[in-house]
Amino acid sequence: MRHLISTATLTREEAILLLDTAEDMAATQDREVKKLPALRGVTVVNLFYEDSTRTRISFEAAEKRLSADVINFAAKGSSVSKGESLKDTAQTLHAVGADAVVIRHPASGAAQMLAERGWINAPIINAGDGCHEHPTQALLDAFTLRRRLHGNKARGRGLDGARVVIVGDVLHSRVARSNVWLLGALGAEVELVGPPTLLPGEFDRWPATTGYDLDAALARKPDAVMMLRIQAERMRAAFFPHTREYARMWGLTEQRFRSLPEDTVVMHPGPMNRGLEISSAAADSKQATVLEQVANGVSVRMAALYLLCSGVKEGTN
Ligand code: CP
Repeated sequence: MRHLISTATLTREEAILLLDTAEDMAATQDREVKKLPALRGVTVVNLFYEDSTRTRISFEAAEKRLSADVINFAAKGSSVSKGESLKDTAQTLHAVGADAVVIRHPASGAAQMLAERGWINAPIINAGDGCHEHPTQALLDAFTLRRRLHGNKARGRGLDGARVVIVGDVLHSRVARSNVWLLGALGAEVELVGPPTLLPGEFDRWPATTGYDLDAALARKPDAVMMLRIQAERMRAAFFPHTREYARMWGLTEQRFRSLPEDTVVMHPGPMNRGLEISSAAADSKQATVLEQVANGVSVRMAALYLLCSGVKEGTN
């Protein structure tokens, strides 16, 4: 593996290696001194063209815990506002000695372009590209779910037979896309549920079933329900009549949440629209993994960085 652009190309073995390496990283994070020397002398640039809290902070924490030199680049306040292209920015990063790049970009395909065009010779990690993919989010989701379902016997396992319902704005969700591919590779069964306007036409080629009735999907007692954020910033049209209507039909309301078995895992990638796709009763419950997902993000990103970047200085990666 040279880059991490998409989960669609990850094999089951590669996915389990990433999750198991994240377990190793997590074990080091309980120590008093959390820092490892693995990426000493490696310069990682975090190239963020789009806003982020969780992904940006946890990549930075992961890089610093691996002893990398970290450069944070935000498009706001940079020469991007003067019209500088991705190519010229990448070549500038190459000139300052970047050994690896983590990129978030509003355009689908930006990470792939950076990996393929040869503007910079470095591992590229996709931290979210438009509506396309967010592979490290899916990996931390799978890591969190595997731990919840298998506890301390999680290592070496996939998610065979686990049933996961992904609910809401699938159309605009890179989290949903990356999860569908990764959960499928790990052996889980995925059902996508949402308004017809927010379920993309391409889903018939995805390893998932689809439906419009959330109550029917929850009545089948899935192991986990993953609520997606309504991505208002990506919507160019009215995809549902009113937010109240959406919450009533497809939100994890308090009433719906209370009807779930006590061991159903409730997931959300964040940031949450409380009261729209998820109620506070659900988000703040013991069943919810929202903050666990954030914490696990550091270990998962350490694993991805370690596997992709640990040989860059010797040219072995
Ligand atoms: N889940 C996620 O990508 O959150 P941020 O946009 O805050 O990074």
